[in-house]
Amino acid sequence: MNLTLKIWRQKSAKDKGQIVTYNVTDISDHMSFLEMLDVLNESLVAKNEEPIAFDHDCREGICGTCSLHINGEAHGPDRLITTCQLHMRTFKDGDTIFIEPFRSKAFPIIKDLIVDRSSLDRIQQAGGYISVNTSGNSQDANAIPISKVNADESMDAAACIGCGACVASCKNASAMLFVSAKVSQYALLPQGRIEAKERVTNMIKQMDKEGFGNCTNTGACEVECPKGISLNNIARLNREYLMASI
Ligand code: SF4
Ligand code: FES
Repeated sequence: MNLTLKIWRQKSAKDKGQIVTYNVTDISDHMSFLEMLDVLNESLVAKNEEPIAFDHDCREGICGTCSLHINGEAHGPDRLITTCQLHMRTFKDGDTIFIEPFRSKAFPIIKDLIVDRSSLDRIQQAGGYISVNTSGNSQDANAIPISKVNADESMDAAACIGCGACVASCKNASAMLFVSAKVSQYALLPQGRIEAKERVTNMIKQMDKEGFGNCTNTGACEVECPKGISLNNIARLNREYLMASI
């Protein structure tokens, strides 16, 4: 395939960015999207030009590092996959593809397509954990019965990889889907009930402090989430927050 790429280039957080056009040729439809960018970068390096900076690590849909807005959609046009799992067979020969960073006030651009998503880490640090006694008195996990329904829903919420696509897709740049997944994975388990009030209060407080917008139930986050995190988690987050506030 021969493709025209329109890519956001920005030297640093302080610089003004712009869309730059590149042409790539002989791209195999078996390549992943990131491999296609690797090919472009190799050609740029060969010409002594600055390669395009983009985030990636596992390239298996696990780490949540890759984060591209492709043709206006977080992680591209396919559903339930991350950018690293997107393949070039999704596109046609001659296509023009727009590639931009995840945009949000809480995700400042570092360089080109890389944004700073440490705001999500700080929300997680505010309460996304349980305190466990590990001083030789820890309880056998199987001693606490948990219903299959709750165990399954908790596991589904725990699938969130913290990529931030929900924020980038939301017109309000809300992080509610992310926070709701992190709160739900514990709220559904007896081990998570002990610190439930502090957790939800502190995580919401940090979310607001980081400058994320509020949720207006448009549902774009659920559509673009690569891990299928359900909006039901936001309803649970609201219930947890209300109960903690009373
Ligand atoms: S809820 Fe989905 S889109 Fe949002 S950070 Fe988690 S995995 Fe990514
Ligand atoms: S590089 Fe790890 S999820 Fe894409």
